[in-house]
Amino acid sequence: MSLPPHWKEVGGEGRVHRVMESTLTARDRVGVQDFVLLENYTSEAAFIENLRRRFGEKLIYTYIGSVLVSVNPYKDLEIYSKAHMERYRGVSFYEISPHIYAVSDNTYRAMRTERRDQCILISGESGAGKTEASKKILQYYATTCPVTDHMSTIRDRLLQSNPVLEAFGNAKTLRNDNSSRFGKYMDVQFDFRGAPIGGHILNYLLEKSRVVHQNHGERNFHIFYQLLEGGEQDQLSKLGLERNAQKYHYLVKGCCPRVSSINDKSDWKTVRKALTVIGFHEEEVEDLLNIIASVLHLGNTQFGEGEDGETQITTEPQLTYLSKLLGVDGPALREALTHKKLTAKGEEVSPLSFEQAVAARDALAKAVYGRAFTWLVAKINQSLAFKDEVYNSSKGSSSVIGLLDIYGFEVFQHNSFEQFCINYCNEKLQQLFIKLTLKSEQEEYEAEGITWEPVKYFDNKIICDLVEEKHKGFISILDEECLRPGEPSDISFLEKLEDTLGGHAHFVTHKLANGKTRKAVGREEFRLIHYAGEVNYTVNGELANQSVNSRTAGSVICQSDNQILSQCFHREEVTTQKRPETAATQFKNSLAKLIEILMSKEPSYVRCIKPNDAKQSGRFDEALVRHQVKYLGLMENLRVRRAGFAYRRRYEAFLQRYKSLCPGTWPNWQGRLADGVATLVQHLGYKPEEYKLGKTKIFIRFPKTLFTTEDALEARRPALGRTIQAKYHRIRNAVIQSAWRGMKSRRKARRRRHAAEIIRKFIKGFIYRHYERCPENEYFLDHQRFSFLMTLVRNPPKSVLDKSWPVPPPSLTEASEHLCRLCMQNMMRAYCRRIQPEWKKQMEQKVVASQIFQDQKDSYPQSVPKLFVASRLGRAHTLTDTLDLTNTPLTDYGVAVTKYDRRGYKARPRQLLLTSSFAVLVAEAKLKQRIDYAALRSISVSSLTDGFMVLHVPSEDNKQKSDVVLQCDHVIEVVTKLATMADKKNKVNISQDSIKFAVARGKEGVIDFTSGSELKVAKGKKGHLLVTAPQLNPR
Ligand SMILES: Nc1ncnc2c1ncn2[C@@H]1O[C@H](COP(=O)(O)OP(=O)(O)O)[C@@H](O)[C@H]1O
Ligand SMILES: [Mg+2]
Repeated sequence: MSLPPHWKEVGGEGRVHRVMESTLTARDRVGVQDFVLLENYTSEAAFIENLRRRFGEKLIYTYIGSVLVSVNPYKDLEIYSKAHMERYRGVSFYEISPHIYAVSDNTYRAMRTERRDQCILISGESGAGKTEASKKILQYYATTCPVTDHMSTIRDRLLQSNPVLEAFGNAKTLRNDNSSRFGKYMDVQFDFRGAPIGGHILNYLLEKSRVVHQNHGERNFHIFYQLLEGGEQDQLSKLGLERNAQKYHYLVKGCCPRVSSINDKSDWKTVRKALTVIGFHEEEVEDLLNIIASVLHLGNTQFGEGEDGETQITTEPQLTYLSKLLGVDGPALREALTHKKLTAKGEEVSPLSFEQAVAARDALAKAVYGRAFTWLVAKINQSLAFKDEVYNSSKGSSSVIGLLDIYGFEVFQHNSFEQFCINYCNEKLQQLFIKLTLKSEQEEYEAEGITWEPVKYFDNKIICDLVEEKHKGFISILDEECLRPGEPSDISFLEKLEDTLGGHAHFVTHKLANGKTRKAVGREEFRLIHYAGEVNYTVNGELANQSVNSRTAGSVICQSDNQILSQCFHREEVTTQKRPETAATQFKNSLAKLIEILMSKEPSYVRCIKPNDAKQSGRFDEALVRHQVKYLGLMENLRVRRAGFAYRRRYEAFLQRYKSLCPGTWPNWQGRLADGVATLVQHLGYKPEEYKLGKTKIFIRFPKTLFTTEDALEARRPALGRTIQAKYHRIRNAVIQSAWRGMKSRRKARRRRHAAEIIRKFIKGFIYRHYERCPENEYFLDHQRFSFLMTLVRNPPKSVLDKSWPVPPPSLTEASEHLCRLCMQNMMRAYCRRIQPEWKKQMEQKVVASQIFQDQKDSYPQSVPKLFVASRLGRAHTLTDTLDLTNTPLTDYGVAVTKYDRRGYKARPRQLLLTSSFAVLVAEAKLKQRIDYAALRSISVSSLTDGFMVLHVPSEDNKQKSDVVLQCDHVIEVVTKLATMADKKNKVNISQDSIKFAVARGKEGVIDFTSGSELKVAKGKKGHLLVTAPQLNPR
C-alpha cells in the first residue's frame, strides 16, 4: 500500500514517520482495544500480553469483535458512575472504549430497534467477576431506562432480588468470598417504550452438598451466618439458636465461620429489607427462618446405639426443636431419621445403621434447604411477574433481555457429580457459542453478499454427545444403572461405562489408560477430556447422589404445618410407585430447556477472567490467565472472528470517521454511501485483497490496513483542527445560544417532572401510610422520618425543664423514646457538670426537704423557692462562746425559735443551735437544754402552715428533759437540717390535726391544730395547746 498523498502535508518523510511512531507507541502502551486488531492473532502469547498491558493500565475490558473480555480488577475502579452510564448511552459500540455498559447499551438498543429478544451470556471461572458483571448490567438498565411509578417498583424488586438470592445461594469459597453456588438465568422484560416491566428467574442446580459439608477454608451459605450474627435475640431464642456459629456442626466444617471481607450483621439487615421490598409477608419470612434454623438443628442431631444395638437419636432437645420448627410430628420424625420404608406405602420399615442414619439426616437437610431455595426463587418470580393487564393486552410489543450468570468450568482435586454437571453445562454453552458465532458470522457474510470462507476450529459437540447421547451417552448409562433392580453399585457402573464408552477419544479410566495417564487416574475415577481441559471425576457415591429424595423423610415433611415445606414436598411424590428421575437427567433436561431459550435470542457474550488466585488487585498471573484463555475458548473465538476479515464497519460510520482523509469525501459526501467509501479507500490506496465492500459494510482483512488509516487520521488532526476552528467561530454564537436556551428549558422541564413525581409519590404514600412498609409508601415514610429527625435537630428541647418533644411517626416511636431519654440524660449531665459546690449542697438539702414535706405540709410549696441558709444567727460560734468546751464541734447552724413550756405553754425566746452530734437550746448565752442526736427519737410537725415542731426525746432518760415544743419561722429549713444531721430523715412525723408529746414520766400533752385566717396560739380546753394556722393552700 502506498502512502496517501496528503501525508506529505505534515512535513518531510522523517516527520511522518515520527508521527506514526508516536501514535503507535501510544497505542502500544495499552495494546489494542479489540483483539481482532492483533497482528499476530494466532499467538496466545500476544493475546495474553495484550491483556496484561491493558490490565496494568487498569483497562480491564477488551473486545473480541462483539465479545467483551473482562479481567477482574479486584478493586473498585471509578468507571461505574452515573456519568459513565450516560457516556455509553446510545453511543455506537466502537466509538468509545470497551465497557460492560457498551455491551448493555448495545443489547438494549438492538432489542429496541430490531424488536428481537436478546441475551447476555456471562461466563468465566469462579471469582472471575460474572455476578458483578450481571449486577452492573442490571444497574445500567435500572438507571438509564425510562421508568414510571409502577415500573420503579419492579425495578427495585429486580435489584433487590440479588441480595436475597445471594444470601441463600452464595457462599465463601477458596476462590471467591461471595461465590454463587447456583446457576442463574434472569429475564428482564421491557415494554414498547423500553421500560422494564417484569422479570423472571430460572435457577440451576444449587450446590446442596454445601449445606452439610464445606471444604477447608470455605463456608456454608451466607444466610446461616447472617441470621446468627444479625438476628434479634428473641428471634434466635424462638428458633432455639445461639449467637455463635461455632456451635453448629454444619457451619464449621471449613473452620472459618468468620471472614474479614464479609459483614454478616449488616448483610442480614440488607436481606431483611430486600425481603420486604420484594413483598414477602412476615409469616413467610418466619417459615423461611424456621427452615434455616431446622437445618442447623439437623446438623446438631446425633445418633448413638440403643440397648438392643439399634440406632437412636441421642440429642433429644434437637428433636423437640426440629418437630416444632419443621411443623411435624416428633415420633414420626424420629422414625424417619432412624428407619427406612421399604415400600412406597410405608407398611414395612427397617432400621437404619448408624452411617445410614447420618446419611438420611444429611439428605433431609439438603432436601429441605434445596427445596426452600427453589420456593424462594418461585416467590421472587411471583413478585417480578408482569401483571398489568393493560400491557398484557398489548403483548408482543414487549421484548426481553436475558442474563445468564452461570458457574464456570471447575476442576478440583476431587470432582464429584456437581462438578460434572457444572462442566457439562459449560460444554453446552461452548457448543452454543460456537454455533451462534459461526452462524452469525456466516449470516453476516451472506447478508452482505460476501463469499463464506470455512474456518478451522475445535467443535466440542463430540464431548456433549459423549455425555448426553441417547442410549450410549454417560447420562443414559447412569440412568440405566440406577433404575435396574437391586442395589446399584459404583464399581459396576464404572465397568459399564468402560464397556460402552471405552475407546472414545474424550473418555479414559484407570483400566483403559496406559502409561503415565494410568497413574493420574484413580481406580474409582473416570476422566473426561473437556474442551477446556482434563478432569477426573470420582464415581464414589455418584449413584447414591442420584436417589434424589429420601422417601421416608419426605413422607413426614409433606405433612408439615410449615407453609413453605408443605408446598415443596408433595404427597404424590412419596406414594408413587414410579422411580423419580435421576438428578443427572433432571439437570440434562433443564439444561436443554435453557439452551432452547438462549437459541431463540440474539446473544452477546461477556467472558470473565480472574487475574490471580489471591483475590489481589494489580497482580496478573500469566499461567492462570493462559489457562482461562484456553478453556474460555478465546483463541478459538478470535480465530473464527478473524478467519475472514479482521474489521468491519457500516459505511456511514467508516465514512464519518475517515472522510477527512480524502478531498473527494471531505467535508461531506453527497452520493451513495458505498460509492463514498469506494472513493475514500481508493484514495487511501487499499489493495483489492485488503478489503471487500458488502451491501452496507466495508470488510477489512488485516488490522495493519486499518492502523495505517488510523495513523493518517491522527496526523491529519492538527490541520483539521485549524479548519474547524475557523468554521467554529462563525457558527459558535448561533449554536451556543440555541444550545443554552435548549438546555435551560430542558432543565426546567426536568425539574417540573421531578417535582410532579415527588408530589405523586407523596400522595400515594399518604394514602398507604398505615400499611406495612411497601414500595408505595416508602417515600412518604422516609420523608416522615426524615422530617421528624430534622425537627429534632433544628429544635431540640432547650433545658431540663422543657418537656416539649415532637410527635414521632409510628415507625420511630421506640427510637423517639430512646432519643428523648438520651437527650434528657445529656442535658442533665451537662447541668450537673456546671453546678458549683454550694449550689450542690443547697440542692441536696432541697431534695431532702422534698422527700420529707412534699405533698405533706401546706407551707412546703412556699418554702421551695426560698434558699436554705448556712445559719440564721449572726455569729456562728455562739456555742463555743457559751459552753467554753474545747472539744465541742463548731456550730453548723443556728436559728431563733420560741420554746413553749410543757406545762403552762409559756412562750420563751431561745436559740436553737445544731452541731454535728447534738442540738442545744440557748437563752442569753446560757445553755438551757442539750439534745443528743442519738437520743432523739423523732420529730413531729403538723401538716398545716404553722411553724411548730416537737422533738421527741425519751423521758426516762435522766439527762434529757423530755420532749421539746418549739416554734420557728423556718420550720422546713430547721427540720430538714436537723433530720439530715441527726440522720433522722425517716423519723419525721407529719400529723394532720394533733401532736402528742410526753410532758413528764407517763404524762402526755397535746397540741391541736386547726386552720384559720391567721396564726393563733392559745391554751385550749383539757389543757391542750391550740394552734390555728393560716390557711394558704387547702388540700
Ligand atoms: N468489575 C469489578 N470491579 C471491582 N471488583 C470486582 C469486579 N468484578 C468482580 N470483582 C470482585 O471480585 C469478586 C468476585 O466476583 P464475582 O462476580 O462474585 O465472581 P463470580 O460470580 O464470577 O464467581 C467480587 O466480590 C468483587 O470483589
Ligand atoms: Mg457468581
